[in-house]
Amino acid sequence: MQIIVDTPQNIAKRAAAIYQEILAAKPNAILGFATGSTPLDLYAELVRLNKAGEISFKDVTSFNLDEYVGLSPEHDQSYRYFMEHNLFNHIDIDLARTHVPSGLDVSDEALAGYDEAIKAAGGVDMQLLGIGINGHIGFNEPGTPLESLTHVVTLTESTREANKRFFASIDEVPTHAATMGIKTVMNARKIMLIALGENKADAIRATIKGPVTPDCPASVLQLHPDVVVFLDEGAASKL
Ligand code: GLP
Repeated sequence: MQIIVDTPQNIAKRAAAIYQEILAAKPNAILGFATGSTPLDLYAELVRLNKAGEISFKDVTSFNLDEYVGLSPEHDQSYRYFMEHNLFNHIDIDLARTHVPSGLDVSDEALAGYDEAIKAAGGVDMQLLGIGINGHIGFNEPGTPLESLTHVVTLTESTREANKRFFASIDEVPTHAATMGIKTVMNARKIMLIALGENKADAIRATIKGPVTPDCPASVLQLHPDVVVFLDEGAASKL
């Protein structure tokens, strides 16, 4: 694991530079995107670079990590909506080649189909990850088997609590999500994890220094050959 500690502003710039390198080498790369507050500065930087003609997503195919079960793509808290509003609508990506798990069809066929589509596209070249305060990646909560593929999870109360700030009340936060599995994430050729803020410090310590265990799903990244972790001072404060 390569661990880089920097300011949030510099992290966005340095992370975006890695996307530039990847797309310069492979313009039709398969990119795995994430949602949450953490990647917002990076997405803004990618939009800026795209508008300046310094990066192009025109041949990119993308797969997002996860989606809330029960939310339609038009719901303003769905992750499909998030991606369109924070990234896709502002860059030259072909929307037809962007994928977010369905929150409405969570049949076994649809879930298995997500992994099949990733495989058919050639596999993810770079998967971006944030991290939950309990060490979840995507929506793979503690206890999720490390061998899991795309599946439906029951969200923990702590995750629903952490995400309620985006909803009118906790009752409106979905109870389930469809998420790439831990194995799906680990299949990516390169992984970039970004964590910002002191409230992520315990999860980051367990991820980097702890044993590899389903109790902290992100700890599995210790087993991946190509992971870059960007941390601000707060997130790195317990290392
Ligand atoms: C959600 C998402 C994760 C994300 C996490 C942290 O649970 N499913 O992909 O990493 O929140 O979010 P934030 O970046 O807002 O702290």
